[in-house]
Amino acid sequence: MSRLDDLRSEALLGGGEKKIRKRHENGKLTARERIHLLLDPETFHEMGMLVTHNCSDFGMEGKKIPGDGVVTGYGRIHGRQVYVYSEDFTVFGGSLSKAVADKISRLQDLSLKNGVPIIAIKDSGGARIQEGINSLAGYGDIFFRNVKASGVVPQISAIMGPCAGGAVYSPALTDFVFMIDQSSYMFLTGPDVIKEVTHEDVTFEELGGAATHSGKSGVSHFNVSSEEQCLATIRELMTYLPQNNMSDPPEVQCTDPVERSDESLDTLIPADSSLPYDMKSVIKSVVDDGRLLQVHEDFAPNMIVGFSRMDGMPVGIVANQPAVLAGVLDTLSSAKAARFIRFCDCFNIPILVFEDAPGFLPGVEQEHSGVIREGAKLLYAFCEATVPRITVVTRKAFGGAYIAMNSKNVGADMNFAWPSAQIAVMGARGAVKILFKRDIAKDKDPESKRQLLIDEYNELFNNPYVPAGMGYIDEVIKPHETRSRVISSLKILDGKRESMPPRKHGNCPL
Ligand code: HXC
Repeated sequence: MSRLDDLRSEALLGGGEKKIRKRHENGKLTARERIHLLLDPETFHEMGMLVTHNCSDFGMEGKKIPGDGVVTGYGRIHGRQVYVYSEDFTVFGGSLSKAVADKISRLQDLSLKNGVPIIAIKDSGGARIQEGINSLAGYGDIFFRNVKASGVVPQISAIMGPCAGGAVYSPALTDFVFMIDQSSYMFLTGPDVIKEVTHEDVTFEELGGAATHSGKSGVSHFNVSSEEQCLATIRELMTYLPQNNMSDPPEVQCTDPVERSDESLDTLIPADSSLPYDMKSVIKSVVDDGRLLQVHEDFAPNMIVGFSRMDGMPVGIVANQPAVLAGVLDTLSSAKAARFIRFCDCFNIPILVFEDAPGFLPGVEQEHSGVIREGAKLLYAFCEATVPRITVVTRKAFGGAYIAMNSKNVGADMNFAWPSAQIAVMGARGAVKILFKRDIAKDKDPESKRQLLIDEYNELFNNPYVPAGMGYIDEVIKPHETRSRVISSLKILDGKRESMPPRKHGNCPL
């Protein structure tokens, strides 16, 4: 017994008391403390606590710590099973030995076999330098399993310290990445190597901090302010996710009345259609208890994506944000929405779209940075999604935006429009310029002529009634009716069964 107790005590101390104390002084939790905060109390069961590395080079033979650089096991979040692993920075900087990789791979295998989500807490200096190729092979093993599990079980990564070198690609292959402001960073090559190779001076934070990856690169989906907030937000995210692709996302008892109607929505859209408004206020007024868990909040904010509930059922929200760049579709917002739509489709989460977009953003920079390729991702994602899909057009649905933002023609199940909707090939001013340039120039009073033609165009096309008459819109609804109409649509679509033709996999334009 005492041998087991000794080994357990040794494992629980990781890299030792001194290193643990240093972490606490730096405001950091240990690998196990993080797991305990993440999981329901007293539910963690550790596996592989006595595993040690097998390296004998560089004097490593005498430096074996039970458990090595990662704590692995399983427990519960809100009563539901999850697998979790947490890298231990106190043990060789959380670096990845072959033994660490084998522990993680084993957990990934179990997660996939049992259809249980897996959460990774990352805090690592990358490949264990003393182990050479063995460590690189270990990363390959992990990436291979990340990809195998993609779309089968939810995979979540929390970056809670360094995530350097080979360590970065596993999180990047998972569904959601969390980063902590000012205390976590991700990079393939650090500031010193960059200085040598490209002569650029950059700090850790600028290179790969939470703000960089949440706002610029888009690697991170959630930028949180502390370790505690990170773990609490993962718990919240889990409430929207099913255990695996064969099960439904968890419904909760809803106390927000289905028939609740918010009359202020009826006057929310500005009379002048060039003026902005905040789409988040529309979303929050329609969904249960005004609750929206935004994903990628700081990245391409002209598009809003996130999770909400409607009468207790999780839904994925995809919405243009007219308050940022007029809600235009561009490279980044298209890619952001596409990734989120594909996640929802993998995991049986219905998609609710709020549309107000003047089209795809024109410009040389956009064309050269691949607005065609990125826009195609958005189209692809909607076209292949077989979950229930509902669209509410609040204002503009012009040109490519009409098609790409979940039109009936790309497979939406229910399309609503508010009376303020403008559904046309383009805005009136642009259309009149193209169609009547010569007529206007020839007219005695060109300005009055232009205005007359604009008014005519608006009357003819910029309203929801022509598309409703053609069946492209199922129903024009008053804004305050949106909540009840969307919920009743979700209920009737609950049994939706649709599948794509058999194939190995599609070829999404990456
Ligand atoms: C072995 C490592 C290690 C590593 C850190 N340690 N990284 N041991 N392999 N990769 C050890 C240190 O020797 C030290 O041990 C302890 O962890 C803490 O590290 P410190 O440097 O003292 O901590 P800190 O100052 O906080 O700096 C953390 C760090 C730095 C920024 C992560 O350690 C670092 O730059 N590490 C190397 C990062 C890196 O370049 N990794 C890439 C590896 S190549 P003692 O005994 O002193 O406590 C790779 C393959 C790429 O990953 C594959 C691409 C697909």
